[in-house]
Amino acid sequence: MPRNASNPVRIAINGYGRIGRCFLRALYESPWRDEFEVVAINEPADLASIVYLTRFDSTHGRFPGQVDATADALLIDGRRIAVSHATTPEEVDWAALGIDLVVECSGRYASRAELQRFIDAGCPRLLLSHPANSGEDVDATVVFGINHDALRGNERIVSNASCTTNAVVPVLELLDRAFGVEHVILTTVHSVMNDQPLIDGYHHTDLRRTRSAMQSIIPVSTGLARGVERLLPRLAGRVQAKALRVPTTNVSAIDIALSLREAVDVAALNALLRGAAGSSHAGLLSYSEQPHASIDFNHEAYSAIVDGGQTRVGGPRMASLFIWFDNEWGFASRLVDVARHWRARWQPAG
Ligand SMILES: NC(=O)c1ccc[n+]([C@@H]2O[C@H](COP(=O)([O-])OP(=O)(O)OC[C@H]3O[C@@H](n4cnc5c(N)ncnc54)[C@H](OP(=O)(O)O)[C@@H]3O)[C@@H](O)[C@H]2O)c1
Repeated sequence: MPRNASNPVRIAINGYGRIGRCFLRALYESPWRDEFEVVAINEPADLASIVYLTRFDSTHGRFPGQVDATADALLIDGRRIAVSHATTPEEVDWAALGIDLVVECSGRYASRAELQRFIDAGCPRLLLSHPANSGEDVDATVVFGINHDALRGNERIVSNASCTTNAVVPVLELLDRAFGVEHVILTTVHSVMNDQPLIDGYHHTDLRRTRSAMQSIIPVSTGLARGVERLLPRLAGRVQAKALRVPTTNVSAIDIALSLREAVDVAALNALLRGAAGSSHAGLLSYSEQPHASIDFNHEAYSAIVDGGQTRVGGPRMASLFIWFDNEWGFASRLVDVARHWRARWQPAG
């Protein structure tokens, strides 16, 4: 049966951390919130903490609705969201929840075998807030605005890629079409995340993630080059990426250094991106030449904001661009977009 405001899509969120909470709130703040109903959250944390961190958010401010609780549920404006605290997919009775979709925001499941556990446990479909190990581990990896139209509706497991992939792929795709991209080096400057300690502490698999998030600029590994090549296969073998974590709480940036087949100047690069922001990519891409700092883009839903004042050319075919993005809110807003687009194509059950 097609879902609409009178028959909303029933969603469960698995993993109610930064992205899980931002997704709930992005849905709530979206014009389409009546088309969806979050009916369950599965998160190891206790209910009191879940309620508290829904109501108060240091980065995005207070929740813009009424947040309450019963003994086993979160209430948003009086609407019930059942809360469970399982750490494996099998422990939740997904079928009994009558859900259409699980939005997987724990980041703990990245192979097809691991993801299939949700399907086997009764989840009809999964939308991931992270890239899978490979393109083959999911039925589709989507960057909204680039390949969302390839969704057919019969997929079971879809990845929303990463926040950095969502930010950079639309820009690279435009540059490649207009000027031909030869080689790219991407440097992500990313706010801290919950996988880093506040002060030095043991991590056991990654030495760099033992270091205090608030004291250093910390180079970390990144799968961004693979993520870009997954979405733009014609750039395969021509993309490299580095990532730095910096002591800010939200909003990140990517420095894009690239060589092009055609000669360009700053004006031509900026005209292309400014034009796309105002037309084909409106709502996903923005453009500004104001003297910005990252905090200006907190709670900003764009996938990327091109900082036109930072565009440089280092020779006729060598350029550098700078883009900002709210790694939490922009990405959570794309989860909403992909869920909405995907569900419009779902086939009737049976
Ligand atoms: N933060 C961003 O800017 C951002 C942007 C785009 C994509 N992502 C991706 O989204 C995913 C989540 O990131 P995040 O920043 O939201 O992390 P987070 O704040 O650590 O949230 C993850 C939540 O999932 C819970 N969890 C852990 N294992 C679970 C399980 N087996 N079942 C259910 N819940 C479980 C965690 O609980 P414990 O703390 O008790 O383990 C935590 O509350 C990651 O893959 C990340 O790469 C993050």
